[in-house]
Amino acid sequence: MQLKSTHRLSPPAALATKDPAAIALGAEHTRLHPDPRGAPDLTPIEVGEVWENPVTGERGTILELPYENAEGRASVELTALAGARVAGEHRHPGLIERFTVLEGELTLKRDGQTNALREGESAEITPGTWHDWWNAGDRNARVRVEITPGERFAHMIETMFGLARLGHVNAKGMPRPLQLALIAREFSDVIVFRSPPAAVQRAIFGALAPIAHGRGYRSTYPQISRTVLAPRHERAVTPQPDGAEILEGRGLRIRRAEDSTDEVSRAHVAGAKGTNAGPVHIHLLQEERFIVHTGELQVRRGRDRITVGPGQDIRIPAKTPHTFEAQTDSTFTTEFRPALRVEDFFRDLFVLPTDRHGNPRMGDAARLMLAYPDEFLYLPFIPVAVQRAVATALSKLGSGAH
Ligand SMILES: [Fe+2]
Ligand SMILES: [Fe+2]
Repeated sequence: MQLKSTHRLSPPAALATKDPAAIALGAEHTRLHPDPRGAPDLTPIEVGEVWENPVTGERGTILELPYENAEGRASVELTALAGARVAGEHRHPGLIERFTVLEGELTLKRDGQTNALREGESAEITPGTWHDWWNAGDRNARVRVEITPGERFAHMIETMFGLARLGHVNAKGMPRPLQLALIAREFSDVIVFRSPPAAVQRAIFGALAPIAHGRGYRSTYPQISRTVLAPRHERAVTPQPDGAEILEGRGLRIRRAEDSTDEVSRAHVAGAKGTNAGPVHIHLLQEERFIVHTGELQVRRGRDRITVGPGQDIRIPAKTPHTFEAQTDSTFTTEFRPALRVEDFFRDLFVLPTDRHGNPRMGDAARLMLAYPDEFLYLPFIPVAVQRAVATALSKLGSGAH
């Protein structure tokens, strides 16, 4: 693994935005928080990149990106400075956190029990377990931390570090209360702090959130959301030990089911909260069916919006406009009847470079339509013949660098 230079360390001037005089001069609105309509940072995240919080001094080197392995795991190597204690007791409702001490010693409190974790030792924190950790030693510790699934966690960290870099935190690295209220609510699936008590947090954050929103605060900002907005490379296909393959795209992990036939194509899908099937589309020939196992999908079918929860399923007849969005982290099975070339189509779709909404470039989409006339996801309401004619013209466009 090779270290790259720290990603955009804050110039000291960025911290000057906290100057009360500047705020009193009336620039308050833009200075209390980043511009919610600011230009997105679309720099792809690279393995080896260092993420640093310039205020707290926390820094971690990215070892694995959550969308580049079948488990959705994010791994980071971080240095816990001698005597440093950062987080405070917390739990992660929907993810597993695993620590491995690479050098030095880490003190870990889990379910009220405190233990030292020595070099070479690992500990796994299961979802919902209260825990805290710090370095009580007199030398720095290097620790590998693995978070599964890790994408939402990475986005939360990116948000906190980003706010620090842009000068929107206090000397301890904490955002303003209005900002914190929105972050705490948005990422409550990722991290919950033990104190103050949950009921107090709910009351405070619930009261502050609408005020914060009204003042232009958002839970996160496009300038500091590379985790979800930046183009991803090296995703697509992850070979599995058993030979099954995982297709990845749009934040979804799709695994072909063994019982697929020519008649019906079945795939098991995992998607984090907010992942979706993109714009409303139709399948010309296939019926599509979703069977939800965990979480919740909101499915748009024609004019209806239907919430589909665990144990429920929904069928979408051919030519019916539809899409879906995961309301929480969800797992579900999809079926296409007849099977046609479902896997080939999605494999080819997911390797295309995408814009920040996860959509392929026009020229690429057009070529895909021409290659898969029966499988393509067509727009509703525009005659398919027109879409194909446009695609024929667009297919001559370049696909851009890739
Ligand atoms: Fe944790
Ligand atoms: Fe569909």
